[in-house]
Amino acid sequence: MSVPDLTLNNGVTLPAVGLGVFQTPPEETVAAVETALRVGYRHIDTAAAYNNEREVGQGIAQSGVPRDDVFIETKVWVSDYGYDKTLHAFEKATGKLGVDHLDLLILHQPATDRFDQTIQAYKALETLYADGKVRAIGVSNFTPHHLAELLAQTEVVPMVNQVELHPYFSQPEVRAADAEHGILTQAWSPIGGITFYPGWGDERRSVMQDPTIAEIAAEHGRSPAQVMLRWHVQQGRSAIPKSTNPSRIAQNFDVFDFELSADDVARIDALDTGVRSGPDPDTPRPEIFDRVVPEA
Ligand code: A2P
Repeated sequence: MSVPDLTLNNGVTLPAVGLGVFQTPPEETVAAVETALRVGYRHIDTAAAYNNEREVGQGIAQSGVPRDDVFIETKVWVSDYGYDKTLHAFEKATGKLGVDHLDLLILHQPATDRFDQTIQAYKALETLYADGKVRAIGVSNFTPHHLAELLAQTEVVPMVNQVELHPYFSQPEVRAADAEHGILTQAWSPIGGITFYPGWGDERRSVMQDPTIAEIAAEHGRSPAQVMLRWHVQQGRSAIPKSTNPSRIAQNFDVFDFELSADDVARIDALDTGVRSGPDPDTPRPEIFDRVVPEA
């Protein structure tokens, strides 16, 4: 079973499927990361705002897998935007993770009520990149117009744009803008967790229960999650499914030995509703943006 690598616009590579730890409680994070590394994952995606960077670092250290064999990605939270504050956010993140460099550091989202600070934060990422402290930089939750504004004011084209992306919200416009600039699209909630997380609103339809996906899954003898992950892999995206359950962590990495047909892919593509389940990146959320990220 070979895990395909994706190549960023600066030549750095990362495995197509990594472990996500959004909403993974700190006390469950070490075990989830260790399990994932044992199963074969070599990419972990965390964020300052997830409050589990320290435990991600512990899980990697305890796994016995050499640090340099793991692609470590984390995100700067909005309250740390601004040139100097973002340089310091790198120190906080690496201090908690227990590493001296990061593989990928991205801005967690555009802060539309303070976009100038978003730009300054990105300029700090450019400095960290030039200094060799991060191997790649990027953004998250950027729509095409945020990307255009960023590209007009900065030098380094982001290597990655991480966005909500699952069969019910497959983001054709963002993918086209990313592709035009050589930016890798990375899917958060790749198996649609955002469509079924408890407590996030009752009117949502769970993509995990979708009949078309169930039918394709049955045809291939796979689970709906595996079909969705295979759809991402075949379309050349990075995907970071979250799980704390050992068998689901393993299942989500077991997607490299079957192939969806062109018809399967087209049927999944046709499920796009154009409606996001997560927060709208154009709506500022100052009460959340201002949450302070603790020192290391
Ligand atoms: P759990 O951590 O208990 O496995 P996403 O990454 O798309 O946001 O999805 C994450 C959600 O999907 C979590 O609620 C996670 O719960 C659940 N999940 C992860 N893997 C699977 C799977 N293979 N089948 C069903 N649910 C899954």
